Amino acid sequence: MPVIRQLTMPKDANALGTIFGGVILAQIDQAAAIEAHRHHVGRVVTVAMDSIEFKQPVLIGDLVSYFTTTRKVGRTSVTIDVHVWAQRQFAESGDFIPVTDACVTMVAVDEDCKPIPLNRPQKQG
Ligand SMILES: CC(C)(COP(=O)(O)OP(=O)(O)OC[C@H]1O[C@@H](n2cnc3c(N)ncnc32)[C@H](O)[C@@H]1OP(=O)(O)O)[C@@H](O)C(=O)NCCC(=O)NCCS
Repeated sequence: MPVIRQLTMPKDANALGTIFGGVILAQIDQAAAIEAHRHHVGRVVTVAMDSIEFKQPVLIGDLVSYFTTTRKVGRTSVTIDVHVWAQRQFAESGDFIPVTDACVTMVAVDEDCKPIPLNRPQKQG
């Protein structure tokens, strides 16, 4: 199941009718944070996001889905893969197309933004 699904609106688009890349990046960041909270209750911040290539444009009226998987759990950080798909013209039940993939590293922090150990132990097996 996607952690986020968003129907794109005209306010998110440029003059050509395609969605701003920054809108998708913001959602990738949020999707990674949601996944990170499976490993930590408390504050998490983004320390790194790998280079991103947009394979196909997202258009007004597309339904964009953000899927996450945990790639690596460290001491204070968790690295997450985010996969973004769009359903073209959702209301018309259009095709699903891959939009982009990202790898995001989130760090658990205290109130002073200092790294702290993740507080949800991994389940064995
Ligand atoms: C994230 C932050 C707290 C890390 O502080 P730091 O003193 O560099 O922390 P450390 O060097 O101890 O690293 C902490 C963890 O982050 C990981 N990390 C640090 N830099 C990284 C990078 N560039 N890429 C991937 N992981 C990284 C470390 O491997 C470590 O993970 P581990 O404990 O699981 O092994 C600090 O850099 C920061 O506050 N950055 C700004 C975060 C932010 O505001 N993000 C939103 C942008 S507007």
